[in-house]
Amino acid sequence: MQKQAAEIRAAALEACAQAASVQELNEVRVKFLGRKGQLTQVLRGMGKLDPEERPRFGKLVNEIRDEIEAALTEREKELFAQEEERRLMAEELDISLPGRKRVRGTMHPVTRIINETKGIFLQMGYQIVEGPEVELDYYNFEALNVPADHPARDMQDTFFFTGELLLRSQTSPVQIRVMEKQDPPVRILAPGKVYRADYDVTHSPMFHQIEGLVVDKGITFAHLKGTLQLFAERMFGSETKIRLRPSYFPFTEPSAEVDVSCIICGGSGCRVCSDTGWLEILGCGMVDPRVLEKVGYDPDEVSGFAFGVGVERLAMLKYGINDIRLLFENDVRFLEQFTG
Ligand code: DAH
Repeated sequence: MQKQAAEIRAAALEACAQAASVQELNEVRVKFLGRKGQLTQVLRGMGKLDPEERPRFGKLVNEIRDEIEAALTEREKELFAQEEERRLMAEELDISLPGRKRVRGTMHPVTRIINETKGIFLQMGYQIVEGPEVELDYYNFEALNVPADHPARDMQDTFFFTGELLLRSQTSPVQIRVMEKQDPPVRILAPGKVYRADYDVTHSPMFHQIEGLVVDKGITFAHLKGTLQLFAERMFGSETKIRLRPSYFPFTEPSAEVDVSCIICGGSGCRVCSDTGWLEILGCGMVDPRVLEKVGYDPDEVSGFAFGVGVERLAMLKYGINDIRLLFENDVRFLEQFTG
């Protein structure tokens, strides 16, 4: 029986060393030390021994059991460590691999111009307001001194819905909506989309305008000119000069068109300014007394100036864009140039 116990010991230690996984190791434990395990069986057969031999043999078997236990524990630690190592190797991070580049969006040039313009006029104490794009004939034309069948309607190729509704052809109706609700003083800037049936390299059926309106006691043409001079300098640089040419708008009297000194050649003449040295940027004028009357203001009490700027035109001049359609094609190669 002693020999048998010694054989079991040797076999168990060998199996323990051979176990390649924690699971195999558990099988070894069951095979030798389990309730029906080989060593347990030997212990059960102890009754066949002489009574005086039993304690010695019992002690021997217990020592063997302890030895196998220790070997199992030791091997288990090794196997755990190996498995951990394998897992870490499999998960290994290659920190020399370049990161994936995230593409950053850029601000659309139209949005940039609008934001920049807002900033300039907010500094001068203007309020930013908005109006509807689907507008009533009354606000887009009638209240702006353009009655039905007036030839001035031909200046703008308007999209009409049925009845009184249209897509606003200008941001000027916002003037009326503001003045109807508010007593003077008024100092507002109204950016937004406008629509006209027009399409070529400088015209798009949808484009953006920014409307400005100031009404208060004692507002003069000098205020208008000073305001626009400051705007031109902030938008195109401190060297920029402006020039006002007499013009006509139904809702202003007198009216003017405003040019800035060419931002490409500085005024000496080039292809962009058609050798004139000047670039037209906006329309403006003193609010016609009839417009003031229409909203219930007293033209003997207050006066005002207004202006309307085309945003795409500013963007094209400022960034040297030669086709307005580039602004609406959403070609990322074009748009991503406007960074910073
Ligand atoms: N609404 C005009 C247009 O679309 C631009 C304009 C001119 C607006 C003179 C004004 C202004 O407020 O006073 O052509």
